[in-house]
Amino acid sequence: MRTSDGTYEPVIALNRLREGTGTSVRVRDVEIALFLRDDTVYAIENLCPHQHIPVLAEGELDGTVLTCPMHGWSFDIRTGKCVHASCRLRKFDVRIEDGQIYIAFPDEEESWW
Ligand code: FES
Repeated sequence: MRTSDGTYEPVIALNRLREGTGTSVRVRDVEIALFLRDDTVYAIENLCPHQHIPVLAEGELDGTVLTCPMHGWSFDIRTGKCVHASCRLRKFDVRIEDGQIYIAFPDEEESWW
């Protein structure tokens, strides 16, 4: 599905997600962490910027703050911003249609920062 936000790729059925628990999927060679929080699905790159390890889907979620299981860096899954540092995770727009989750990949790669 192509829109002005980019191209939406189907990634997983909504009923496979569990409230407050991360799920990782791989799309277009990008590993993505999905979170269901209060009926909203958030999608961020699964790669922690601290040591570039794909573990964020295994992190602990407190509200919308995700803590990396490796060394405790934390991120707001709504924005992708680091809570205590000046870094940012790649964040993806999400759509849900007929129980299927779609993630937008910008047609211009630079536009996701
Ligand atoms: S790898 Fe995530 S905090 Fe170190």
